[in-house]
Amino acid sequence: MKAVVWHGVGDIRVEEVPEPKIHEPYDAIVRITSSAICGTDLHFVRGTMPGMKEGRILGHEAVGIVEEVGAGVRNFRPGDRVVVPSTVACGTCSYCRAGYYAQCDNANPGGRRAGTVFFGGPEAAGGLDGLQAEYARIPYAHVGLVPLPDTVDDAQAILLSDICPTAWFGARLAEIGSGDTVAILGAGPVGQAAIACARLQGAGRVIVVDGVPDRLDLARDQHAETVDFNAEEPVEAALDLTGGIGVDRVIDAVGVDAQRPARGPAAEALAGQAEEFDRERDEVAPEQRPDGDTWVPGDAPSLAARWAVRMAAKAGTVGTIGVYPPQVGHYPFGEAFMKNLTLRMGNCNHRRYLPRLVSVVASGELDPTPLLTRWAEVPDAVEAYRTFDRRESGWTKVALGVEGRGSVAPGLGEAAGTGAATTAGTGETGRR
Ligand SMILES: NC(=O)c1ccc[n+]([C@@H]2O[C@H](COP(=O)([O-])OP(=O)(O)OC[C@H]3O[C@@H](n4cnc5c(N)ncnc54)[C@H](O)[C@@H]3O)[C@@H](O)[C@H]2O)c1
Ligand SMILES: [Zn+2]
Ligand SMILES: [Zn+2]
Repeated sequence: MKAVVWHGVGDIRVEEVPEPKIHEPYDAIVRITSSAICGTDLHFVRGTMPGMKEGRILGHEAVGIVEEVGAGVRNFRPGDRVVVPSTVACGTCSYCRAGYYAQCDNANPGGRRAGTVFFGGPEAAGGLDGLQAEYARIPYAHVGLVPLPDTVDDAQAILLSDICPTAWFGARLAEIGSGDTVAILGAGPVGQAAIACARLQGAGRVIVVDGVPDRLDLARDQHAETVDFNAEEPVEAALDLTGGIGVDRVIDAVGVDAQRPARGPAAEALAGQAEEFDRERDEVAPEQRPDGDTWVPGDAPSLAARWAVRMAAKAGTVGTIGVYPPQVGHYPFGEAFMKNLTLRMGNCNHRRYLPRLVSVVASGELDPTPLLTRWAEVPDAVEAYRTFDRRESGWTKVALGVEGRGSVAPGLGEAAGTGAATTAGTGETGRR
């Protein structure tokens, strides 16, 4: 079968690889109809999330059809259409039962304290092959797989695999309540989806910070108040917009690949910290293989965290979903302490939110489809990765139609979405 394979920092390829087989009774094999490229995949290719093994199939977002089930899987049969959550969990341990699927005691072969297991990640994340392939082996399929109604198409469902649950989780971490003013750092797919999720959880105002003009346009299409960090100092802008108080809640949807502003007052304010950021970057990404302007690691790993803490109001909350790998040791802890902030963070417990979100999408309350701005085919995946990595205009979220155009929803294709998730419901009624 064809798959997208990681060979090294700056080196990914589309290759023929062997098809997966059932190993354990709770495994299933899923024939993938749609996959997608995520900001998390970029960390592996840029070198900001080390520990990948050569030959690992990439990808942790997929929609597909169950092809085969192990003897222990009683709730699915071949032919069922499913969405695959990015993280893998046993469903039996005390953590899974409490909803902390990302902290499962049993899924990681490295042991209870080894960390979150997800598809297509580093060895420390369980060493599982990923979902940018024609078929995948899904461990604990009886717990992980979520059935899809026919009314939820592949374009919607692929955004339910990781992006929507993570955005929902980010809004929950940030403790968004009725009427809150919320800032979202990062207007990539996760930040875009967080606009709608914040509103569904009650946000009164949403302010979005990024430096990429067309991503800010997409946020404005969703009627978020936008701040371009290359034109304004974002903390000052957030204070101006909130009568000098700051925002009640912040969602950091950037993570370790945060970039410095290239120009404007924010760049001037940070000019003296260049060496400090260089040191942070070299600590985070000991191996870097940029190819011109592609695969360039973020040059200010702690910047989104610093801005998040600074723009929060006293006694506010910061929910961090942008990924920070273990080697990141910088956080503005003292500033957060002095403001009595609440800091919550981590890997999404996808399985906890997914069934509910499938219903929210099926009911029409949320339509994430327009966030998909490009569909590519697997043979073109490397070029799609490169274009997404450079944050080129129009390449905010890239799905991979694994089965070819047949799996692409009507109305999509090269031109794809407008970037505005639509929420029929607003305010408190959606709080859950
Ligand atoms: N916690 C989880 O379980 C989970 C799940 C999925 C994704 N993620 C993480 O969420 C983050 C976002 O994912 P994505 O797919 O949207 O990635 P992305 O790379 O497409 O988006 C990141 C955005 O942040 C912007 N940015 C860079 N520096 C910034 C700064 N200093 N201030 C504000 N914005 C800045 C970039 O321009 C970009 O638009 C990634 O770190 C990804 O790994 C986490
Ligand atoms: Zn993802
Ligand atoms: Zn478990």
